[in-house]
Amino acid sequence: MEVRKAVVPAAGRGTRFLPITKSQPKEMLPLVDKPIIQYAVEEALAAGLHDLVLVTSQGKQAIEDYFDRSGELENLLQQRGEMKLLKCVCHLSNMVDIVYVRQKQPLGLGHAVLMAEVVVGKEPFGLFLPDDIFVAAHPVISQLLDAYKELGGCILAVQRVQHEETKRYGIITPNKIGDHLYQVMDLVEKPLPEQAPSDLAIVGRYVLQPSIFDALKVTPPGKGQEIQLTDGLRRLLSREKIYAVEFDGTRYDAGTPIEWLKATIALALRHPEVGPEIKSYLRTSMQPELV
Ligand code: G1P
Repeated sequence: MEVRKAVVPAAGRGTRFLPITKSQPKEMLPLVDKPIIQYAVEEALAAGLHDLVLVTSQGKQAIEDYFDRSGELENLLQQRGEMKLLKCVCHLSNMVDIVYVRQKQPLGLGHAVLMAEVVVGKEPFGLFLPDDIFVAAHPVISQLLDAYKELGGCILAVQRVQHEETKRYGIITPNKIGDHLYQVMDLVEKPLPEQAPSDLAIVGRYVLQPSIFDALKVTPPGKGQEIQLTDGLRRLLSREKIYAVEFDGTRYDAGTPIEWLKATIALALRHPEVGPEIKSYLRTSMQPELV
């Protein structure tokens, strides 16, 4: 069955970013010239997934406003002849129609995904964790969709991580079946390095079958007392095949302040407009006599 829908969980409280996230959704923090969440939305659209479902929670109004029209602002820009800005603002609101569902309690990623069932129904869907940002010639979700067309089942994006980093990710037990392609034999959420079955970490793009919803409904809280998507996928293993694609591209993490800062610098350096100036600024500030 064709994949048309994209689910983007954006309900987390963003406690790692406090105090800024006291009044500002983490997903709206800027990464160079757009908010974090826009990278995931643009990737979904680039892959032809036009039906977007955003899972939000209290305090996330700024996300809805960002992708909505603002007549007042448009009039103001029109009157002032700011046509470039007007075009930019209109582009955002024309870009996508989004259905919002709410996660009323912070019960974890698995629970947030379950909230999307009411809109997704019985269709396979793409899942985008907005903290993970990818730069790739072929969008990472499209790489997963290519594998999905061939194999069906569920497809996860994976990346090799440093062994001591396994405790930050869902980790798979892989069975290599092709070039950068694995069948997932088992998976575990955030294992300690000494318990990790491999160094292949699940990163924020998935193609999932609707059967994940039933699995999540009976998944008890796991790591951090939260309902974990990884645990739901583990339950699904007895009825669905799960595959993993070691994607081609670069991943940036915007999930913690320090990683967000690194992502900001890396993406600024790649940016066609600001890149050259940032590069020369960093060079100058790295010269020992100037620091
Ligand atoms: C989530 C998932 C984890 C995955 C990670 C990718 O964890 O639970 O399995 O490896 O995203 O970024 P989080 O980063 O939300 O703690």
